[in-house]
Amino acid sequence: MGRLAIISDLHVDINHFTEKELQQLFTILMEQEVTHLHLAGDTANRLKTCQAVLDFFNHKGLATSFIFGNHELADVTGEAMMAHYPNVHFLNERFIPLNEKKVLLGFNGWYDYSYSTTNTEKESLRLKNLYWYDRFIQREFSDPEVNRLGLQRLEKILVELEEKGLEVVLATHFVPKREFIVYQTGKYQRWNQLNAFLGSEALGELIDRFANVQQVVFGHTHRKFEEQQIGNTLYSCRPLGYFYEWQLTRDFIRENQLMETFQMAKIRSVLKANQAAFDQYKEQHLKNEFQSAMTLIDY
Ligand SMILES: [Fe+2]
Ligand SMILES: [Fe+2]
Repeated sequence: MGRLAIISDLHVDINHFTEKELQQLFTILMEQEVTHLHLAGDTANRLKTCQAVLDFFNHKGLATSFIFGNHELADVTGEAMMAHYPNVHFLNERFIPLNEKKVLLGFNGWYDYSYSTTNTEKESLRLKNLYWYDRFIQREFSDPEVNRLGLQRLEKILVELEEKGLEVVLATHFVPKREFIVYQTGKYQRWNQLNAFLGSEALGELIDRFANVQQVVFGHTHRKFEEQQIGNTLYSCRPLGYFYEWQLTRDFIRENQLMETFQMAKIRSVLKANQAAFDQYKEQHLKNEFQSAMTLIDY
């Protein structure tokens, strides 16, 4: 018996986290009696930072595993390293037992443009190179091909687990179901093209074929959703995201009346102008933000 916590999109470097914030997170995990922590990608932009976070929790005696999100991948060279990074806690395309009936399976995942409103692969690629962080990632195949090869490998593992009669908790970074893609209307409609880089509908279809996949936890969206049961599987998506996207940040701005109307584009400069007050507010409320960004699974 134990309790698994899955957290995605910690972004410790972009969020300027130090040991102090990690200690706050650790305290919450201990209060929640968590026995295994899994970080489902976008832990940091730099591998070194990502490993330091892993070490922080593992050295404290909390077993912590991880997979890569797109942000780590910009700091990794070669498909083999992306899929099989040599760290004992790296769980991509690997599983560990939670108990005698259930395993935690990790899968980095990728995207195939299936959620895009753009018709051609060429146009999606052009937009990616123009707007998306992932232009810094060197992949050896096209995005749809990288995705297809990953799903092929995942299918083999799922078949193996099904044959063994094992239940599966799958932790992945990218979006497996269209239910978690937001399509804008009106003047923001053109941004729907960037949904291309959020995930793959084929991943969800693959999961649908395996009744033993009980729960899928993912992130990457930087938007939290209600949990949804689709078929036999419960889907959970509550990434932490960047500090300027947090609920506590919106509350800070509202409570201090720092903006007449809420404008995402101006948040960072408003926070900078009120840095000391924001830091204090953050210290008081980060606990709630962390709590809203973790998925707890008893096993
Ligand atoms: Fe992220
Ligand atoms: Fe991501």
